[in-house]
Amino acid sequence: MSVYHTAAQVITARAGSRPPRLGMVLGSGLSSIAEAIDKPVVVPYAELDGFPDAGVTGHAGQLVLGELRGLSVACLQGRWHAYEGHALADLAIPLRALKVAGCETLLITCAAGSLREQMPPGSLMMLTDHINWPGVSPLIGPNDDDMGPRFTDLSKAYDPSLYGPMREAATEAGLTLHEGVYLWCLGPSFETPAEIRVFASLGADAVGMSTVPETLVARHCGMTVAAVAVMTNYAAGMQSGLSHEQTLTAGAKASPQLTQLITGFIGRIAGEAL
Ligand code: HPA
Repeated sequence: MSVYHTAAQVITARAGSRPPRLGMVLGSGLSSIAEAIDKPVVVPYAELDGFPDAGVTGHAGQLVLGELRGLSVACLQGRWHAYEGHALADLAIPLRALKVAGCETLLITCAAGSLREQMPPGSLMMLTDHINWPGVSPLIGPNDDDMGPRFTDLSKAYDPSLYGPMREAATEAGLTLHEGVYLWCLGPSFETPAEIRVFASLGADAVGMSTVPETLVARHCGMTVAAVAVMTNYAAGMQSGLSHEQTLTAGAKASPQLTQLITGFIGRIAGEAL
């Protein structure tokens, strides 16, 4: 049995009669939605085989099971980044464990830098596509045929069927929801102004150091994906300087709006067969 099957067994046992349907990955400074989960059952990552240590400030390192708007969720509170030195393939384990435990949909939140003047810090952007700038993938290596096919179709990486519920949730909450293309950089340094000019010319609207690896793993194993980025800053060259503190502070400030958006979204998909 693979390591993610062992982790899935623990998740299934802890979830009891409520196997999770929706997996969630929360970004830097954006984990407060986990506090809105009803009847939470907390499983430290240390109890889940193969879950790498989650190290960055602003990340808790635990799985929270429970319900949001009546939907069973499994929330990865604390995530892994390639820049921490994890083997990319290891980043597949938690998501595959969620899939095996029952999650058909993955919702990702992340912090990002904005490349659009008209999308200032504090703005929310639903991802409609991405650019894999490093050109690497957690799917490199022998294919796990039990999980998915060798070659993954990414034509609809962020599922258009989930755009409607997200847009409606934004309207209902009175929030402006931007839509655009997220470009993944490995980090951990922020980008240079010259890189940002290149990325803008390639069609990127936002830049960040996460999300794309998770999307690749989720799409490979057939989960549908929705993702929302919080603009915590303008990208390099568009403002005077960048820091992780700013990411955390701006993320925390936008957290209530993000929580409103996400709970509204979940309320809308809860009634549908995921
Ligand atoms: N670049 C990369 N990642 C980020 C940024 C940024 O400007 N802001 C928040 N995460």
